[in-house]
This record gives sequence, C-alpha cells and structure tokens, in this order.
Amino acid sequence: MQIFGVDIGGSGIKGAPVDLDRGDLAQERFKVLTPNPSTPDSVADGVKLVVDQFGWTGPVGLTFPGVVTDGSHIRTAANVDKSWVDTDARALFSERLGGMPVTVVNDADAAGVAEMHFGAGKDRKGVVMLLTFGTGIGSAIFVDGVLVPNSELGHLELHGHDAEKRASSKAKDDEELSWEHWAHRVQKYLAHVEMLFSPDLFIIGGGVSRKAHKFLPYIEGIAAAIVPAQLQNNAGIVGAAMHAATDG
Ligand code: BGC
Repeated sequence: MQIFGVDIGGSGIKGAPVDLDRGDLAQERFKVLTPNPSTPDSVADGVKLVVDQFGWTGPVGLTFPGVVTDGSHIRTAANVDKSWVDTDARALFSERLGGMPVTVVNDADAAGVAEMHFGAGKDRKGVVMLLTFGTGIGSAIFVDGVLVPNSELGHLELHGHDAEKRASSKAKDDEELSWEHWAHRVQKYLAHVEMLFSPDLFIIGGGVSRKAHKFLPYIEGIAAAIVPAQLQNNAGIVGAAMHAATDG
C-alpha cells in the first residue's frame, strides 16, 4: 500500500509517495524551501506544490516541527511562524489539498516510528531515543517499541541555554563550528539526556545522520549505544505516511 508522506521542516518541505510494505519512498522525493515567513497559509501552499508534483489524490500524512496533538492541533512552533500555535492543521491542509484525508504528527515522532519499524531501532526493546539534529533538536522516546509522544527534549536547558540553540546542526552552521567542536556540544547534550533517562540506545537522525562518521567518533563517555538513523533524512516522510495509515 502507498500513502503520501510530507515532512515539514524549518528549512524545507519534502514529500513523496511511500511504500508502506518496504518502509521506503516509492518515488524520488520532491522538495520546496520552507517559505519565509513560514505562516500556516504559505506552508500549506508549499505542501500543495509538493503533493501536486506527483498528481497524488488520497491520504496524506504530514509532519510538523512542533507539538501536535490529536493528529491536528498545533501546540508549539519553535522554528516556524508563531501564528501556527492553536492552528487546526488537519482542517488547513485538508482544505488546501481539495479535501484529501490528512493527519499531522510531530516530525521527530514520525522519524522515530519509521526508524523503529524499518531502521536502526527495528526489534529493539527497552528505552530507545531518537534525536534529530537539524534546524532544532527533535526527540522521540520508545519503551519496548511504544512511542511516548511529543517529548520535546530539544528544549532541555543546557548550561543556561535552550539545548537546541547550542547543539542543533543549525547552530553548527550558524557558528561555523568544526565537526569536533560541535560533537563536543552534542556529547554534553547526550550526557544530560542520559542522566535523565538512561536509554539503552540513542539513534541520531536528521540531515547530519548522513555524515555520522564525521562526528560520532568524537563522542565519548556515553554508556548507551549510539547509532546513526538508517532511513536518514527520509525517516520523517516514511513516518508521516505510517502515521496516516494507522490514524483512523
Ligand atoms: C520543536 C520540536 C521538533 C524539533 C525538530 C523543536 O524546536 O520544538 O517539536 O521536533 O524542533 O524539528
């Protein structure tokens, strides 16, 4: 079965039809830049462009980079326009897509669900944490494969700062940090998360997961195993489609 998945991020909106049996994209994904300002209206236009590119009609699962409840209600918007807060995203996207059934889920939760089914977390019991390093830091916590949604660990306070402002990959780019310097910050962040949750496994997701060999070797002193995400930057798209398949 195929369902369309869209991953809405702070920098890009990307999507493709997803083959749910294989847990992979059925066609090469299409991406547009996230508009600035990233208001609900302009992002919905971007989503429509992506979906129309494939001539898709049918169910659509979307991710959102903030807290989302009930597959629709946007509760926070750290890295997109603040006017998203309290938006009924299901109604917005469904209307813009001509009435297609849609559902919305937090981006890190979507990526985590995809990794647990098809990637680095497959068959893993215990406490598994997927952390995505991108414009912000997203988190998804699994206990014996079951998701604890909307965990928002990117906003833990670290040395007096919002952690994602120091250790996201955007912070690396903005401050032009070397991989080693940035890895040091990621290590401090992981140590803090480990102190709180003692996970068995950390899965590192987001765009940087493609370059894990450049920074994981610098990370030391963490008891949990640390592995890069296997679906890399497609995990959000796949997880969004999986969420749509199970959400009513
Ligand atoms: C948001 C999270 C999101 C993460 C990654 C954070 O700023 O609060 O909801 O998962 O960024 O996009």
